[in-house]
Amino acid sequence: MAVINQPVIEMVRLSKTYRSGFRMKKVQALVDLNLQIGKGEIFGFLGPNGAGKTTAIKILIGLAKPSSGYATVLGKPPRETRVKRRLGFLPESPYFYEYLTASEFLTLAAQLSGVNHSEIKSRVRQMLKVVRMEYAANQQMRGFSRGMLQRIGIAQALIHDPEVVILDEPMGGLDPIGRKEFRDIIVGLRDQGKTVFFSTHILADVEMICDRVGIIVGGRMVEMGRLNDILSGEVESIEITLRGVSGKFRKGLERIADRCIEAGELLMLSVKNEEEVERVLAIARDAQAQVKAIIPRSMTLEEFFMARVNRARRGEDN
Ligand SMILES: Nc1ncnc2c1ncn2[C@@H]1O[C@H](COP(=O)(O)OP(=O)(O)OP(=O)(O)O)[C@@H](O)[C@H]1O
Ligand SMILES: [Mg+2]
Repeated sequence: MAVINQPVIEMVRLSKTYRSGFRMKKVQALVDLNLQIGKGEIFGFLGPNGAGKTTAIKILIGLAKPSSGYATVLGKPPRETRVKRRLGFLPESPYFYEYLTASEFLTLAAQLSGVNHSEIKSRVRQMLKVVRMEYAANQQMRGFSRGMLQRIGIAQALIHDPEVVILDEPMGGLDPIGRKEFRDIIVGLRDQGKTVFFSTHILADVEMICDRVGIIVGGRMVEMGRLNDILSGEVESIEITLRGVSGKFRKGLERIADRCIEAGELLMLSVKNEEEVERVLAIARDAQAQVKAIIPRSMTLEEFFMARVNRARRGEDN
């Protein structure tokens, strides 16, 4: 991995162990995480439930202390007030004062994050526009849907024009249009040279906007890199479509293929490698079946994610 000069976000051998319950049982939430994120990067932090994403984010914003190792944001310990001023944050389950209107809430957020008094009004108006909530500016938030609240949460994170933006599950509750708008906001931030770190379960969005991703499973970073590099290193599957395979040849094909789908006269098979393609074609010849198509397919991030998480959970990494 290339070393990034003056990383905006850095984790060095970062570990966190919780002790919980009556017996103070140890939970290793993070184990030896190392990560460097440079200015202007969009980093996607992926992992199944309970993987440690929120724990890592809490450390990055100075809400939790590491058990060992350390993290820095803008080259400083995250707890420093100077860092907080330059950092925007959206929590996993944001809390809103529901009797405030959207506009009042954002005004409060602006005051708390140190926006210049003379700029607050225009900044609030601008942010409502960015998240397309101008129409609800003067409504109390208790009537808001989850997606509307999420938009206000994102506006709140960006209200003081921070250099670094850390978002925990920002796409939760957003509809497809909201997600598209959110992606545009994030890419817009990158264009302004800001650094974005967000956790998510929604892999399609990650594929569209992230420069790099990290996959965390059981507190360990099991994969990290540019999406293209991660996905191109993976074995592709090859899909073969045959026509006119009679019953007695089916069993042999099913034994070779990972997947076998019948659609009318067509039989679609998915195999792992060239050798399996050859074996399928040999049977197809014997069966006097027609070969309609042979199409190599690269893994999607979703398939890769599932495979990677399963491999890590089976303990096959070391
Ligand atoms: N305050 C806490 N006390 C004890 N254990 C905790 C605490 N917070 C988190 N954990 C444990 O640490 C592990 C990581 O939790 P974390 O919330 O960081 O996961 P996550 O990746 O954010 O999951 P999700 O996708 O569900 O949000 C889990 O096993 C969780 O039970
Ligand atoms: Mg979480």
